[in-house]
Amino acid sequence: MPRFVVVVSALLTVAALCACGSHTATAGPGAAVTATPLESASVGRGRAVFAARCATCHGAAGEGAQIGPPLRGELRRRTPAFVTDAIANPSPPMPKLVPAQLSQQDLLDVTAFVEQL
Ligand code: HEC
Repeated sequence: MPRFVVVVSALLTVAALCACGSHTATAGPGAAVTATPLESASVGRGRAVFAARCATCHGAAGEGAQIGPPLRGELRRRTPAFVTDAIANPSPPMPKLVPAQLSQQDLLDVTAFVEQL
């Protein structure tokens, strides 16, 4: 097969897939809701999540309390990926709150809050 025919048919396939994708994206009410796009991390929202879910163990300002270790200066000891993973997949006795109690957006926000403590 000549090379340009291969290229043209490949492009047509891509165009067909794109058309199909945009059709499902504009589906009307009753369509299954898939992923909600995340907003960029917000320290302000993260502060509220922290106060509600984390402060009892880690202290209101991340200074540490009876159960949880201090989180101040966390980024001097840990990578951002470690912090997110420690929250999403915690070691006991820290409870696993994602995804049942905290959304991906909450995770992003509370991580941003912890990272600036
Ligand atoms: C029931 C008490 C408790 C709650 C609630 C809790 N944590 Fe923890 N957290 C802990 C304990 C205990 C550890 C230490 C676990 C271990 O031994 O590795 C920990 C560890 C962490 C770490 C890793 C610290 C490090 O450098 O090793 C982070 C980050 C963290 N918690 C953030 C949070 C955030 C954010 C929340 C709220 C969404 C939260 N925690 C809620 C008890 C708690």
